[in-house]
Amino acid sequence: MDFSAKRILVVGASGVLGGEITRMLSRAGAQVLGTASSQESAAHIPSDAALRLVADLGSAESIKVLTDYLVANEQIDGIVVAAGRVGFGMAADTTAQQVAALTQVNFGGPAQLITELLPALRGREDAFIAAITGVVAEKSFPGMSAYCASKSAFSAWLGSLAFELRRDKIKVIDARPGHTETGLATRPLFGAAPQMPQGMTAEHVAGVVVAAIAAGTTVVASTDF
Ligand SMILES: NC(=O)c1ccc[n+]([C@@H]2O[C@H](COP(=O)([O-])OP(=O)(O)OC[C@H]3O[C@@H](n4cnc5c(N)ncnc54)[C@H](OP(=O)(O)O)[C@@H]3O)[C@@H](O)[C@H]2O)c1
Repeated sequence: MDFSAKRILVVGASGVLGGEITRMLSRAGAQVLGTASSQESAAHIPSDAALRLVADLGSAESIKVLTDYLVANEQIDGIVVAAGRVGFGMAADTTAQQVAALTQVNFGGPAQLITELLPALRGREDAFIAAITGVVAEKSFPGMSAYCASKSAFSAWLGSLAFELRRDKIKVIDARPGHTETGLATRPLFGAAPQMPQGMTAEHVAGVVVAAIAAGTTVVASTDF
């Protein structure tokens, strides 16, 4: 895909992976509309972005404000969901409220945002939806049941969406990288991270995601990183 003249929404452009993806897509000629969860963190969206926007994936109202604005005012050729949080703790010690909060940010919020933006994507040439779910969508790990469940749910939802959007020619890309050195584990919604092995670099992971979008690859398995 030729990214020039494409307008791409990067959800989580204020994060490490989202920021790298924003820079790479911008260098490839795309105009990136980047989002953060708050006005304060929007300062972390790379200056390469054409527009800085705010939406809290924890809030259905906040998402609706953003999607209403985008559908009414912007051309959207693609969406990259690079936003999410992690949560740690044994399943037996994790509360229903913690599970619900993590699931909202990692699955419910992104799914709402994508659904509400489908009218903007329909009819655009080479339209795509790409999301970074993670290796936890392929395999469960101890001490992070809520994270594994929320990402598996999002991945399963994307799989159904991929079938449903075939007729509209909208590509759905599910990228499932393993541990990456972004500091995500130091910013958990709850719990504390266990010792982690050395992860991949953010540049490498972002590069594989952008290459998959360009190639139209639908599933980027953990072993592809
Ligand atoms: N790092 C890894 O090892 C790894 C591996 C596999 C998959 N992933 C996934 O990759 C994605 C990006 O993670 P990262 O490693 O780049 O971490 P990061 O640097 O902490 O980035 C997280 C991003 O998510 C956004 N976000 C968090 N809560 C949000 C909310 N309530 N509403 C809107 N945006 C919110 C953050 O926005 P603000 O900063 O504006 O709050 C930030 O842009 C996540 O979905 C993560 O699960 C990461």
